[in-house]
Amino acid sequence: MNKVTLKVLHGSLSTKEFTFQERTTCVIGRALDCNISLPDDQAHSTISRYHCLLDINPPDICIRDFGSLNGTYVNGEKIGQRGTGTDLDKAKRLIYPEYDLKNGDQFKLGDSVFQVSVLNDSEESSSLISRENIPLLTMPVSEPDPLDKINLLLEKASENNGDLFFIKGYNIVKELGKGSMGAVYLAQKTDNSTQKHPLIAMKVMLPKVESDPRSHRQFIRETKNTQLLNHKNIVKVYDIGCHDATFFFTTDYCEAGNVSQLISQQGGKLPLYLALKILMQVLDGLEFAHTVKIPVVVLADGKKTSAVGLVHRDLKPGNIMLTNVDGILQAKIADFGLAKAFDVAGLSGRTATGISAGTPYYMPRQQVINFKFAKPEVDVWAAAATFYKMVTGCYPRKYTKASDPWLITLKTPVTPIREHDASIPQALAKVIDQALVDQPEIFYKSASEFKDDLSKVV
Ligand SMILES: Nc1ncnc2c1ncn2[C@@H]1O[C@H](COP(=O)(O)OP(=O)(O)OP(=O)(O)O)[C@@H](O)[C@H]1O
Ligand SMILES: [Mg+2]
Repeated sequence: MNKVTLKVLHGSLSTKEFTFQERTTCVIGRALDCNISLPDDQAHSTISRYHCLLDINPPDICIRDFGSLNGTYVNGEKIGQRGTGTDLDKAKRLIYPEYDLKNGDQFKLGDSVFQVSVLNDSEESSSLISRENIPLLTMPVSEPDPLDKINLLLEKASENNGDLFFIKGYNIVKELGKGSMGAVYLAQKTDNSTQKHPLIAMKVMLPKVESDPRSHRQFIRETKNTQLLNHKNIVKVYDIGCHDATFFFTTDYCEAGNVSQLISQQGGKLPLYLALKILMQVLDGLEFAHTVKIPVVVLADGKKTSAVGLVHRDLKPGNIMLTNVDGILQAKIADFGLAKAFDVAGLSGRTATGISAGTPYYMPRQQVINFKFAKPEVDVWAAAATFYKMVTGCYPRKYTKASDPWLITLKTPVTPIREHDASIPQALAKVIDQALVDQPEIFYKSASEFKDDLSKVV
């Protein structure tokens, strides 16, 4: 098993060890809710409350300084220090200073020193090995074109390759768009095969790093249950497959694009009535997904159990698709659990949905602190954040280029919605502001509670 261990060599946590065996993140600082929390006292006053972030995908580990006042040192060299009195422009250039750590590296904040050990199980030796010796497994693979990949699979499917049966007989008509993990195509049935849907969206996802069948299985296992989501406000997933490290999903085609595109088309904001209509539909979809019965869940060890509810974990305007049903706009949530499952399975590297490049604009602080936080309330918060964006054109928190967005999410309160637009009715604004409370906890625990309060004020 690939493993990253941090041993504290000096400081108040001295001799403690932290071991990471799966994809995760870790915030270090003086705040109580940090993953590694240092005492909030005079002796640690040179450490910021949220000082730095570790982005871990064993055996990879990267450290990112949050623009802390006193900086983080790697092997004696300061990374990302922002000097007192630095002007904004200069600070901008120092944004997101990251450093890839390797076996034997030491990093230091205040007087706390951490030693990094990396264990890569692909090496024969079980002793600690140097990161420089393991380039093939951990380096990003050169980016293949998803269109080439899917065309190849469609060709194989036509030769009756078993696990490609459900894409047999389709042809790619056009690209619908690209995302950070792949692309989505419009596909049309061109033969007289038994496929039920003449026109579908075919989503193709490609791992960003060299990956193994175990992580492919983990991803498929996590996403399979989305096929149970039969609801008018959720994009229907017909089939899911993986072949040759290419994941493919066949889904409903939503011809009217997504909410992010609609916001742009409408000049940056949507009229209140339309935003409310979309929000209500999204909450209906969430309520269904969060309470859906999942008869069989296959656990990592192969055991089976049952469960209730699926959480999206990456709800945002770009993942709310639109379609016209008898001339009436219908919102449908897309990509249930996909981005996060991809990341959790270690397939995104640190560059795609990985925390380094991902955007926390629609995430409550709980998701930033706890990589695996997956309660339904994160989707409810994200639905409120999406509404906020639709109505005001802004994110709930004020993000500036000069500061790390992850730090802003951790430290900055949400701006009350009427500060952007005083024409929003007070009673409605109160419910939205309430829905965006995430400290100490998220206010609405379920989509139905949020919906009930909304229905009293609209
Ligand atoms: N079922 C669908 N019907 C029509 N268009 C779709 C469908 N699913 C996705 N698209 C479009 O395909 C494009 C790419 O989507 P994708 O989900 O890959 O990325 P994203 O959600 O925009 O971003 P990311 O995945 O990086 O967060 C988007 O423009 C999206 O609107
Ligand atoms: Mg998407």
